[in-house]
Formats: sequence, C-alpha cells, structure tokens
Amino acid sequence: MSARVAVVGSSNLDLVVTASRLPAPGETVLGDNFRTVPGGKGANQAVAAARAGAACDFVGAVGDDDFGTRMRASLVDAGVDVRGLRTVAGPSGVALIAVDANAENFIVVAPGANGTLTELDADDRATIAAADVLLLQLEVPLPAVIRAAHWARADGTTVVLNAAPAATLPTELLDLVDVLVVNEHEAAVVAGVPSGDPPVLLDALLKLVPRVVLTLGARGAAYADRHGLRVTVPAPRIEAVDTTAAGDAFTGALAVGWAERGDAGSEDAVTASLRWACAAGAACAQRPGASTALPDRPAIDALHDATYRGAP
Ligand code: RIB
Repeated sequence: MSARVAVVGSSNLDLVVTASRLPAPGETVLGDNFRTVPGGKGANQAVAAARAGAACDFVGAVGDDDFGTRMRASLVDAGVDVRGLRTVAGPSGVALIAVDANAENFIVVAPGANGTLTELDADDRATIAAADVLLLQLEVPLPAVIRAAHWARADGTTVVLNAAPAATLPTELLDLVDVLVVNEHEAAVVAGVPSGDPPVLLDALLKLVPRVVLTLGARGAAYADRHGLRVTVPAPRIEAVDTTAAGDAFTGALAVGWAERGDAGSEDAVTASLRWACAAGAACAQRPGASTALPDRPAIDALHDATYRGAP
C-alpha cells in the first residue's frame, strides 16, 4: 500500500521573472522572461509527495479568483485530493519571485486566502488521522498549524514541520514536532542562535525537537536525533537552473520515504530517505518554476541511482 501524506498549508500563484542578477534594495534591474506558475510551499509539497508516489491530501485555501481556479486544477492534475481545499471570497495567495543566472532567487509572498485558514474542522481531523505523515510549513496562520499538529499527535500521525519561512516558534508547536526540516538560515532562526556549522545548529535544534533534518543545498543534507544518530549525505552534482521549490521537492520526498520505511530510525533507513530526498531536490533544481519542476518517482529514482549506486 502506498504511503499516505496529508499537507496543511499554503498555495500561491507564483509570478516569476528571470534576470541576469537580483536587484539590490532600491535598484531596478531589467529582466527577461515572465511566467506564472502554481506554487506555495504547502501545495508544492503536496504535489511533490503525490509525484513521489504517495496518496496525498491537501488542506488549504484559495481565493475566488482565476488564480484560485488555476491552483486547484494544478493540484487535481497532480493527483492530490483537494476535498480539504476551501475557496474563500477575495484574492488568492501570490508570490513575487525573481530568479538570477546562478539559479538563486528572492521571494515575497502576499498570503491572500492563505491567511483565512485559521480554523480546521472535523473532516480535516479525519484526513490527518488517516495519514502516515502530516506535512506542515509556516505560510498559513500558526493556530491552524498548531491545531493540525495536536490532532496528528493525538491520532498517531507523524508530524514533519518544514519551518519555512523562518520564524521563532512557540514551545506548544515544537513539543508536537517529530521531525523538523530546515535550511541553515531557518535553523539559526528557529534555534535562536547565530548561524554556525551544521553540527552546532543540529545540537541547538535537538534541544527543541527530537529529530532534525538540515538541508545544505548543493552540499546535501544532515540528520541528527536525540538517540545520538547522525547521518550526512552529499547531494547529486547537477547544473541548477532554478532552486525555487527544491526544498519543497526535498521535503515532500522525505515524507514519502519516511512513511514508506515505517518511520524507522536506523542509520540505513535514514540514509536511504535522505539520499532519495536529495535526489528529488536536485532534480527539481534542474528545471524552472515551482510545481512545474517537481520530479515524479522515476525521475527521482534515476538521479538517485546515478548518484548513489555503489555508495556504502
Ligand atoms: O518554496 C517555494 C515557494 O515559496 C514558492 O512556490 C512560493 O509560492 C513560496 O511559497
């Protein structure tokens, strides 16, 4: 039986401009291509999990505008169950994104309808209870994130929190997290420490949550837990064209790998899940856009096998 993943999170329509370089504050830069792409960290991770092979449910909110119609259709196209996706009066979430020639980006989000997701209902609870893994991010109001995590904990669903965008978090939420997924910037903000080497960040975060996955971009990913297990894996070597949603591809695939391995905390299982997630993130960075770049299972497997076959 395939893994079941529930996502409670955001959906945005991404307005994406590519340019040779990103502007400094107050500067205007002439870009080249403009595209609109369904995105949002929650929706991206739902699509990532579905393409990676999970049965996936998405709980979120879009506006009653054309953007909302398009984002709903994009999730349905990817095979995501959208019975928990509300349509509310007003504008959908929007993200302004610029991508430079080095595949780096900046992103500004106007939450729109995402900001109305303050309460969840009994149907949402049933959706979360039926999942192996609940995936959460920080682009919808914190009360909904905390409520979902409480229900997951009560009903035996593993809580994976991708603390993006970076924020300091209340103890009430941190106490409900099984696995925290962060990049180095997010790690420093959540831990309340200056940025530092991965081992320092992992130690700081293990005071708050039992398991941490630290994404390191082109350097791969690191894992640490309170049982003393530490694992580091390198990333596939690829030519990145756009890193937008690479973290979402990583997190969605990690949730699927974790669910399929029954949440096993052995070194082999963690290494396997991390490698597969790194392959998903790298495959995403090889293509432009957010949801449009998220790889399917054969693409993840191909890059995974090409990178790690024969590795111990
Ligand atoms: O993680 C990438 C996503 O962040 C984009 O799709 C954008 O919508 C923002 O939410």
